[in-house]
Amino acid sequence: MSEEVIIARETPNLVGTVQVSGAKNSALKLMAAAILGQGETTLHNVPVISDIAIMGEVIEALGATVCREGHDMVIDTSTVDKYEAPYELVSKMRASISSLGPLVGRFGKAHVAMPGGCKIGARKIDMHLVGLEQLGVSFEMDHGYLVATTPEGLHGGSIMLEFPSVGATENTMMAAVVAEGTTTIDNAACEPEIEDLANMLNAMGAKVRGAGTSSIEIEGVPLAVMHPCEYTTVGDRIEAGTYLAGGALLGGPLTVEGIKSDYLRMAILKLRAMGCDVQTGEDFITVQRGKPLQAVDIQTLPHPGFPTDLQAQFMLLASLAEGNSVITENVFENRFMFAAEIARMGADVTIDDHHALVRGTEKLQGAPVVSTDLRAGAALVLAGLAAEGETIVRKIDHIDRGYEDYVGKLVKLGARVERVTLDVEDM
Ligand code: EPZ
Repeated sequence: MSEEVIIARETPNLVGTVQVSGAKNSALKLMAAAILGQGETTLHNVPVISDIAIMGEVIEALGATVCREGHDMVIDTSTVDKYEAPYELVSKMRASISSLGPLVGRFGKAHVAMPGGCKIGARKIDMHLVGLEQLGVSFEMDHGYLVATTPEGLHGGSIMLEFPSVGATENTMMAAVVAEGTTTIDNAACEPEIEDLANMLNAMGAKVRGAGTSSIEIEGVPLAVMHPCEYTTVGDRIEAGTYLAGGALLGGPLTVEGIKSDYLRMAILKLRAMGCDVQTGEDFITVQRGKPLQAVDIQTLPHPGFPTDLQAQFMLLASLAEGNSVITENVFENRFMFAAEIARMGADVTIDDHHALVRGTEKLQGAPVVSTDLRAGAALVLAGLAAEGETIVRKIDHIDRGYEDYVGKLVKLGARVERVTLDVEDM
């Protein structure tokens, strides 16, 4: 059976500048938010990745039209006349659940398939439901589908999230903007993508204040006030952090452009602690390393803490550092699968519950490995650039979900990497 794989070979360095694409974890939600503005919304800086294509299918299944031209996207939601997000699409991409809030906002009801879990965790949505229930939404389960109704209409509420969940904050916000009255969301997620979504909703006529902090206040407006808009997605901080890890791994200097350096303060702090020189400007970050990587301890936390989506990339750095690092994964319950794959390349990682003890080694050896999620997949390719010999990375569809032209961008930086189709029986 043949499969497209990425072959990464030992590479002396990654040098140069890479243009960061738009943020996957913002653009997906901006597309969903367009449901609230009946007409043509234009989005710029939308990354060309498979998750975006799937969200386009979800939006089209509701009756909208989606036209892409490079990094621009025009979504006409004036023809949206359905409020069901079908299982076959939601099961392909969990983020389809982000259509729940806008559908409830626009129609007062929604019929959305329950998203499954994934390899990194159960990915529950209980906080999404609790938040929306505070706004007057009632939920029933119907054969794997969430049936949302608003018997007394959508009204403002006072919401306290148990955990600063990104998705729960977003879904609640997208319904609250057209609820009658004022809504407060406390213990809200503070990720930059939340702020990006709020900025677009405000450009559509909403009244959201405090996004990007843990306390958001929303003054509901009538649905008729919400109008389409033209909006540009922020840069993808996780894509940027992935390339910076590559520069730190092999030495650089490597610059990522099109990203607010303020989005990556904790990752920059850790790169400096590992012995890297990091220069930052308004929308670029340059990393360079002239001495051996030093061990560092990392706790993944909601923003502005260390991002869980960079955990695998920094575990790779730790595996080649001088000394022992402890990495604690506090956001997802099962996000250390990368460790087993990189151990096949000679890394020394011991997992104990949500702690990983990483003992630095001199060198990794190339080997066939498998991507377990998109961030682990991207990190495995970087590992192959540092390892002696050749590394074959399988299940690269994970990588294509969130990294636009990953191989092309790495080749421009000097990486010895290529996409090929192989008969995987031979591996
Ligand atoms: C978003 O996922 C991102 N995905 C994830 O990026 C990212 O890792 C995560 O936020 C944390 O930053 C998108 O934006 C599409 P959460 P989300 O709700 O919204 C638990 C990537 O690699 N939880 O903040 O699903 C949940 O199980 C992906 O690009 C509940 O228990 O994250 C998890 O353990 C991976 N109940 C934790 O909270 C809920 O109702 C954080 O989840 C909601 C969440």
